[in-house]
Amino acid sequence: MKIKNNKNVLVTGGSKGIGKSIAKILSQSGYNVFIVSRTEEDLQKTAEEINAAGYFCCDIEKAQNCRKLINDMIDIAGSIDILINNAGFYIYSPIETTQEKDIEYLINLNVKTPFLLTKYAVENMKKNKWGRIVNIGSISGVVGEANASLYSMTKSSFSGFSKALALELACDNITVNTIHPGWVQTDLAQNAVEQSDFSFAEEIEMIPQKRFIHPDEIANLVKYIVSDEAKGMTGQNISLCAGLSAG
Ligand SMILES: NC(=O)c1ccc[n+]([C@@H]2O[C@H](COP(=O)([O-])OP(=O)(O)OC[C@H]3O[C@@H](n4cnc5c(N)ncnc54)[C@H](OP(=O)(O)O)[C@@H]3O)[C@@H](O)[C@H]2O)c1
Repeated sequence: MKIKNNKNVLVTGGSKGIGKSIAKILSQSGYNVFIVSRTEEDLQKTAEEINAAGYFCCDIEKAQNCRKLINDMIDIAGSIDILINNAGFYIYSPIETTQEKDIEYLINLNVKTPFLLTKYAVENMKKNKWGRIVNIGSISGVVGEANASLYSMTKSSFSGFSKALALELACDNITVNTIHPGWVQTDLAQNAVEQSDFSFAEEIEMIPQKRFIHPDEIANLVKYIVSDEAKGMTGQNISLCAGLSAG
């Protein structure tokens, strides 16, 4: 456990992909970064690689684990100042073949879990009169994605959540914002393209900039949003998508 002398950050899904980049860049910037995911081996490896303050091996799709996770973080670190609601899952699901168990799973992990973690973290942020909440949505929740209505529905929920909560917490020095990434180079994107009706080449052809986003591009935007320079930015939904939402 390496506690540095700065704000305490919790990054859900911080062991790989976008979450790992966010954790790495915030750790490099002097924050005490804690990561959470379900796979101990990945957590150990990433925590060491990025010099994280610690990690929690926990399935956050289970509601009962959310309260415990925030309590454990506060016990170890003393506070939770920045919450990055990043962990999420994608399912390719034409509506007629979407299974009820998938609906429950995606609504739990992509919607209920970030709500619960935020609810418990806000109690502590309010006490300290400072906080930053950043949600990782998806461009599929901004412009829609055929055969992913379930995923699109869960990700669009962040839009209303960020705006409403930003108003509620505006006088507590707590900001709430959502980044909506387009295609980002991660395992999730690899699996999503493999499940879809399109090849990689066809997906890239549909992106105005003809490229996938690098996870560090998302992480650098997070770094700005959590900084004091961005204290006036709240309730915003920002697309970082290589132009996908532009036309
Ligand atoms: N990649 C893209 O193109 C893209 C585009 C738009 C939005 N997004 C969103 O960005 C976020 C991150 O995506 P990514 O591409 O970085 O995904 P990823 O590479 O699959 O990483 C997902 C992370 O979340 C963790 N995780 C998953 N389920 C969990 C659970 N139940 N409890 C705790 N941790 C869990 C995973 O670790 P374990 O599996 O070990 O638990 C892993 O650390 C997601 O919300 C995704 O919807 C991604």
